[in-house]
Amino acid sequence: HAATDYQAEDATISQGTVATNHLNYTGTGFVDYTNVAGSYVQFTVDAAAAGQAGLQFRYANGSTTDRLMDISVNGTVVASNVSFPATANWDTWVTKTVNASLNAGTNTIRATATTANGGPNLDKLTLGSPSGGGTPGM
Ligand code: GCU
Repeated sequence: HAATDYQAEDATISQGTVATNHLNYTGTGFVDYTNVAGSYVQFTVDAAAAGQAGLQFRYANGSTTDRLMDISVNGTVVASNVSFPATANWDTWVTKTVNASLNAGTNTIRATATTANGGPNLDKLTLGSPSGGGTPGM
């Protein structure tokens, strides 16, 4: 069946705002992380079955600096300082996939900025198949 999208603007946001001041987002907007370490977006997602999933973060980073984030699942960091490299500009969105093990049913997935730059602009999270060799953070 089709992958499920979770819009960042509908998630729990700590130190960030919903914004619409750039092009090409999906849903009704995106999250602009406050430029501070510790800002986060937390999604509540539903997995049909336990096992590895690909957490597909659609983001834009029109700055020239990598925006690193920790990805945690159900309160445990599963990928530290994941790279969200610069994109062409703030209107250009790309997908970063992090593989992680999910429980069947409800899971919480949090993406937390680890540098004073804050996170990238975050459009949505899609649950899909694991990418590549299954290494978390790839
Ligand atoms: C700019 C941009 C924002 C972005 C911010 C940032 O202000 O318009 O969308 O979030 O830079 O550096 O994080």
